[in-house]
Amino acid sequence: MYVLGIETSCDETSAAVIKDGTQLLSNIVASQDELHEPYGGVVPELASRCHIEKIESIVDLSLEKASISLEDINGIAVTSGPGLVGSLVVGLSYAKALSYAKKIPFYGVNHLEAHLHAIFLEKKIEYPFIGLLVSGGHTSLYDIRGVGNYTLLGSTVDDACGEAFDKVAKILGLGYPGGRKIDEIAKKGNAKAILFPRPRLKEDDLNFSFSGLKTAVLNYCQKLGKSLSEVERNDIAASFQETVVETLLQKSLKALEKMQYPKLVIAGGVAANSRLRAAFQHMSKEKNIELFIPSLKLCTDNAAMVGALGYHYLVAGQKAPFSLNAYATTSSSQASF
Ligand code: KG4
Ligand code: ZN
Repeated sequence: MYVLGIETSCDETSAAVIKDGTQLLSNIVASQDELHEPYGGVVPELASRCHIEKIESIVDLSLEKASISLEDINGIAVTSGPGLVGSLVVGLSYAKALSYAKKIPFYGVNHLEAHLHAIFLEKKIEYPFIGLLVSGGHTSLYDIRGVGNYTLLGSTVDDACGEAFDKVAKILGLGYPGGRKIDEIAKKGNAKAILFPRPRLKEDDLNFSFSGLKTAVLNYCQKLGKSLSEVERNDIAASFQETVVETLLQKSLKALEKMQYPKLVIAGGVAANSRLRAAFQHMSKEKNIELFIPSLKLCTDNAAMVGALGYHYLVAGQKAPFSLNAYATTSSSQASF
């Protein structure tokens, strides 16, 4: 059984072909980084216009790479939210058109649920487990008991951690997208050089907060009152990154302890961070926790995770109506997540 996955929730146009829910036959991702770089962030109208230009060739390429034709596809899974509505409707409308023309059922997939599902393309995992989702728009911990069976344990009360990475990169003059650039320069910095406040670590709940940390970095840079040297910039990046990772680590440990689960899955763009991956690996060995983090290409936005999750809708015999709409936030969605 073959599922075509389509993802256009933000600034990546992506299409993938998945066989039997877990075999990745193709995963084409066209990034719009260069388009948005001069603006220091994603410009929604430019993003949706770019998706329109690219979607057809990206879908064709994904089929070609998988050596399969549209006639062989059994279901089309497309991200219907959360995300930028102008971007989402491009993928959604394209999926509907293919579905109508070729009489293939289509399914609306929740982007966050898809992120947490990406790991199943690489590993076999038994439920239940704790899911830590760290992306540009979300930072949350979930109790995950099965497909569509998720309980939110805690989430950010202000900025998402990816957002904090991007904003701090902007403060440091590193440009967009910032997370990857901080990761790079932090390797040359001293993570203990500056002790930034550890957000909400004293709180007993499982919520996060990253806006104060971003302000602390801004205040630190302003107090220096001069343009930053390379060493200063590297140290700030490394110290900031260490604070974020430490916070995510402590809260994840709390969640594992609370639910008494020995398994943790990390998903989303920030899971590509090298320091995060190393720190969680170390913790997993020390605390005897089974840790699962997808490979880099499956951490950031991609259609493979959408197709993998869509397979479950296919085997359940589900089909979305053509009236299915895009949604910006999960609270306004019809999705199970
Ligand atoms: O999951 P994702 O691709 O898109 C959303 O659903 O938001 O996550 C994007 C976020 C951005 O904030 C980006 O800066 C961050 O992931 N990111 C990273 C790294 N690679 C991407 N943050 C830290 N280190 C990285 N290596
Ligand atoms: Zn994402």
